[in-house]
Amino acid sequence: MNSKEIRRRFLEYFEKNGHKVMDSFSLIPSDPQLLFTVAGMVPFKPIFWGKVEPTYTRIATCQKCIRTNDIENVGRTARHQTFFEMLGNFSFGDYFKEEAIKFAWEFLTEILKLPKEKLWISVFLEDDEAYNIWKDIVGFPEERIIRMGKEDNWWGPVGPTGPCGPSSEIYFDTGRTDLCSNPEKCTPEDDCGRYVEIWNLVFTEYYQDEEGNLLPLPRKNIDTGAGLERVTAAVQGVYDNFETDLFTPIINKIEEIFGVKFRKSEKIDISIKVIADHSRAVTFLVSEGILPSNEGRGYVLRRILRRALRHGALLGKKGPFLTKIVDVVISEYGEIYPEIRDKSKFIKNIVEAEEKRFLETIDNGMEKLIGYINNSKNKIIDGKFAFELYDTYGFPLDITKEIAEENNFVVNEEEFNEQMELQRKKAREAAGDKEYAKMNPAFKYIGDELKITEFTGYEKTDDESEIIYIVKNDEIIEDAKEGEEIIIITKNTPFYAEKGGQIGDTGIIRNDDFEFEVYDTKIINNEVIGHFGKVNKGNVKKGEKVILSINKERRNNIRKNHTATHLLHKALREVLGDHVKQAGSLVTNDKLRFDFTHFKSLSKKDIEEIEKIVNEKILENLKVDTEIKSLEEAKNENAMALFEEKYGNEVRVVKISNFSAELCGGTHVSYTGEIGLFKIITETAVSAGVRRIEAITGFKSLEYLNSLENEIITISEILEVTKENIPSKINSMIDKIKDLEKEVKKLQEKMTSQSIDLSNVKEIEGVKVFLKTFENVDQSVLRNTADIVENKLSDGIIILFNKGENKVNFIVKVTKELIGKYHAGNIARKIAKALGGGGGGRPDFAQAGGKDLSKINDVINNISDYIRG
Ligand code: ALA
Repeated sequence: MNSKEIRRRFLEYFEKNGHKVMDSFSLIPSDPQLLFTVAGMVPFKPIFWGKVEPTYTRIATCQKCIRTNDIENVGRTARHQTFFEMLGNFSFGDYFKEEAIKFAWEFLTEILKLPKEKLWISVFLEDDEAYNIWKDIVGFPEERIIRMGKEDNWWGPVGPTGPCGPSSEIYFDTGRTDLCSNPEKCTPEDDCGRYVEIWNLVFTEYYQDEEGNLLPLPRKNIDTGAGLERVTAAVQGVYDNFETDLFTPIINKIEEIFGVKFRKSEKIDISIKVIADHSRAVTFLVSEGILPSNEGRGYVLRRILRRALRHGALLGKKGPFLTKIVDVVISEYGEIYPEIRDKSKFIKNIVEAEEKRFLETIDNGMEKLIGYINNSKNKIIDGKFAFELYDTYGFPLDITKEIAEENNFVVNEEEFNEQMELQRKKAREAAGDKEYAKMNPAFKYIGDELKITEFTGYEKTDDESEIIYIVKNDEIIEDAKEGEEIIIITKNTPFYAEKGGQIGDTGIIRNDDFEFEVYDTKIINNEVIGHFGKVNKGNVKKGEKVILSINKERRNNIRKNHTATHLLHKALREVLGDHVKQAGSLVTNDKLRFDFTHFKSLSKKDIEEIEKIVNEKILENLKVDTEIKSLEEAKNENAMALFEEKYGNEVRVVKISNFSAELCGGTHVSYTGEIGLFKIITETAVSAGVRRIEAITGFKSLEYLNSLENEIITISEILEVTKENIPSKINSMIDKIKDLEKEVKKLQEKMTSQSIDLSNVKEIEGVKVFLKTFENVDQSVLRNTADIVENKLSDGIIILFNKGENKVNFIVKVTKELIGKYHAGNIARKIAKALGGGGGGRPDFAQAGGKDLSKINDVINNISDYIRG
């Protein structure tokens, strides 16, 4: 039975038994505690938990999963993988232990027809109920039921908290008695590799909290997981997952590309398995919009991808190869997971770009590492060096560790992590003063006391309030005089504090006694807002009633840019694709800056298209609404959110008609028409896979157009032509310059030809040798001179030097009659060596160069040494 059939029959079996069959969920879980979907139950975590009511109480899936905790073992064993498929049936307060066990038993023995005598069962030590169901209801022989402790027969929670419970596992006896120390007595408990766990039935009835307490769940649930690769291996009678039909086509392709054979050498098998597993993982990860990077999921992808490339290099491949294997993965799995087929071009683009990037540095990194290993005495790779490999040559720590291990070295990981932390700290420091708030004792105190400043700036630009604290440097003070720079904290404020990319407001705080100019507004701690500025007039006292007025024009420009940012985000996804994710943004009164994930620069057409969409939406004058709703509700409505950001239970959704919806706390225009013309000014790279757009709106756009127009007017005045005639004028100027350059060259050649003096010719071994040194002439001058001298000399050797700033070029010419006796290429090589350079050429003509100008005279004086031989 092939794997497709197994997958199909599993879902069919459970459908017949009342389960709703669902497509695999994403590899990126909505649970912020988790990096990846590591099991079939992950998408249902809130239902298990009792936080969300189930629509179906019985569900079955074949879920794509990624686990990377054992990545270094992938390749070395029969079953370690990063990407795998998990077959699972789930019950939410519906059936429990007895049915779960009966279903699993029937499916394995009746549908897949695995021999009963080859199966073993384990249950949790204290779980008499499960034990008895297997023994009495299934009629399973007691001698093959074992009880094991919490390390083996307990599952969950995934992440620090969540649903969990005791489990019962089903093992398959592969018959590999050669692995056991005592085949007669061997049981799954021995862990020798003979028995493979093929199905885990979890009786999820507890919730584990932060402290590790187990609390009973409102419902008893079932969560099961059977690794498709393992089940397939059992059914197909092979020991190794990589020998199942899930991998065969991929491995065939690897054999073809590298000219190797699977199962001929242990070492080659490791690389084949690594490439086979990792290319599946890479294909699926990129199809989810994850791009290689140095953080989070992107870094996991990068590690996997680069490890595959290194194993390609081990198999002797210098150039790129991965996309060819990705092609096979797509054609093998595209039917079941159409997302990889739909995004095949995108996936290959990303893989190719990352491959190119790493192949550029891998050789240099390898050379460095091997050099280090050869020169080291203590068998330790220090952390600083491992970090250099990471930082400069793009070697993920896994790769360095793996190579170290192959050479019986270990990596000082602690030191590596220290270096990493150091770099992060530097980056944090460079990122600004967020940390400052935590260090300033006054801010700390006020944040703890006050917790929150009410923000009234969504509705108001002016407001009344009371001064609660005044801070100067890191002290809380009672009052401040004219000229002092202080921070004022009020009970409520219309001033927006810098957040979510939007800069803080500026403006004035005043009453009859004083005027305070606000330069900037920031969160100082918790949700307390600080107004940073200077007392312009009078004295400020704590407790006073004040009027707060923001700079309205500036705020208006910020609002235009913020709403335009949302339009841009949506337009980018429409034009470039759903992989586009926000990677940072800055909204100021002058412009907006938006960073996003995308693998290549945007074409002129892309940019025009994006500008067109945004401006269309502006001209449609769409209504902008904000709504406060639960996070769950917002997600269901597909509001765009930054995954890494923490959101509370209540979120604010900014909706631009039905064109865009984003979680956002910023200030926006009421109708898009207020934005005015939207214009993209620059499109650049921020880092690999991240692009940056800067754009302007409103009057800035007008200013920009005016300044462009002025520049054009200036140019036309300088060129003394009308605007329309600028290009043709420039073209004719370029033509003229080219003509003049030709003229100069001709004159140079003429002058040199006239300056050739044949009385300098030396006779060496009866051969005429002409030597001359030029300074900073066009290389063509050397060639022409050589031709002229050849004509005059008829036979001989011509050597011409051209001295530059820090280098010297030269040519060597041997005339026809002398070929066979003298070799221009060899002469050039010798001279180049003496000049600290390299080069060579044909017997009759050669060009070369060097850096050591001081040696030229030496060469000329001893030229006979170079010519001979
Ligand atoms: N969630 C269980 C596992 O992954 C079934 O093993």
